[in-house]
Amino acid sequence: MNFDLTEEQVMIKKMMTEFADKEVAPFASENDREEKFPWDIVKKMGELGIFGTVIPEEYGGGGFDYISHAIVAEELGRVDSSVRGIYSVQISLVALTILKWGTEEQKKKYLPKLANGEILGCFGLTEPNSGSDVVSMQSSAVRDGDYYILNGNKMWITNGGVADIAIIFAKTDKSMGHKGITAFIVEKGVDGFSSKDIHNKLGLRASNTAELILQDVRVPKENILGNEGDGFKVAMSALDNGRYTVAAGCVGLAQGCYDVAKKYAVERVQFGKPIAGHQLVQELFADMIVEIEAGRLLVYRAGHLKNKHLPHTREVSMAKLFCSEMVNRVAYKALQVFGGYGFSSEFPIERYYRDARINTLYEGTSQIQKLIIANRELGISAF
Ligand code: CAA
Repeated sequence: MNFDLTEEQVMIKKMMTEFADKEVAPFASENDREEKFPWDIVKKMGELGIFGTVIPEEYGGGGFDYISHAIVAEELGRVDSSVRGIYSVQISLVALTILKWGTEEQKKKYLPKLANGEILGCFGLTEPNSGSDVVSMQSSAVRDGDYYILNGNKMWITNGGVADIAIIFAKTDKSMGHKGITAFIVEKGVDGFSSKDIHNKLGLRASNTAELILQDVRVPKENILGNEGDGFKVAMSALDNGRYTVAAGCVGLAQGCYDVAKKYAVERVQFGKPIAGHQLVQELFADMIVEIEAGRLLVYRAGHLKNKHLPHTREVSMAKLFCSEMVNRVAYKALQVFGGYGFSSEFPIERYYRDARINTLYEGTSQIQKLIIANRELGISAF
């Protein structure tokens, strides 16, 4: 096993560290406070090819590997989880899903524009009454000649109100369980397709989260992603990518918590010396860094399997489970270092603490990750 980053990965890390510190971090607090979608940052990310990292060059991407993809998510997550979330959805849930399941025509049509940020995408799986239990979804797609008529509501959709295209999952055959679900690419602006932004979230306040409403939306049959009935597998394989970048983003956010706490601990003097010199504070730092390093190794291990095109669902769920829980423990400890100052928005740790919380919930709760891991370990499904 080689634990060193390649020259290319080192270069990407350096570039992303600079980008995150100069172009993202200075605006994060204001965007969070005002719930402002970071359009300027998204535009710059598009121009620099950041949305194209892992997309093959033939479709306008950078053709980089999955460790590089994780590094980008880490560096963005280190300073602003809202921006990291935009990146994750755009590439992991949308572009990579089109890359895996799309026709050549669909790939040529959408991937270059997703890779250069000309269009944004979103992933419409969750519904008001269907979260963990994907198969209970109510959205329907009924064939009408060369079209399907889609009806339904999608909930908690990251990028939902700003996206130009959505991958929408709907039932084409209600009697077929998970085999009756189909994935469609639906373009914004088509009649009957609208969105409603969700405000006042605990965290990720600069990222757009919306409800999607589909009322008799006519979608051409050419816009099916995969085949009719493949939708559940399309969704699960997309989540293998999505959960990977969530895990990487958690490592980055945890590193961000650690970094700001360290800076504070060496400056803040109590009992005649910097608090970093007190043993109980040192314990907090030792606990944090061990957990961050462990999470990073789980992410890179999953990325290594992805690079080799080997099965990786179990390893991705392990990384997502550990890192999303870990970042909450680290954010708690980092905030503890700040004492009362951590409770105010004067320092970014307050935002980091709020942003950490979503990670054990979206793209499959921690409980769902445990079921996926146990299912693969024991060979028996809990369902
Ligand atoms: N890749 C490809 N195919 C897969 C797969 C994967 N990772 N996992 C399972 N499948 C296939 C299986 O091979 C099986 O295929 P066959 O029918 O051919 O045998 C089929 O899917 C069914 O598999 P399982 O029986 O293992 O599936 P399950 O019913 O046990 O899965 C579940 C249940 C794990 C709970 C699943 O429903 C699940 O992951 N739920 C959570 C959903 C979720 O994460 N939602 C988050 C939404 S995204 C989001 O948060 C929005 C956002 O904008 C951020």
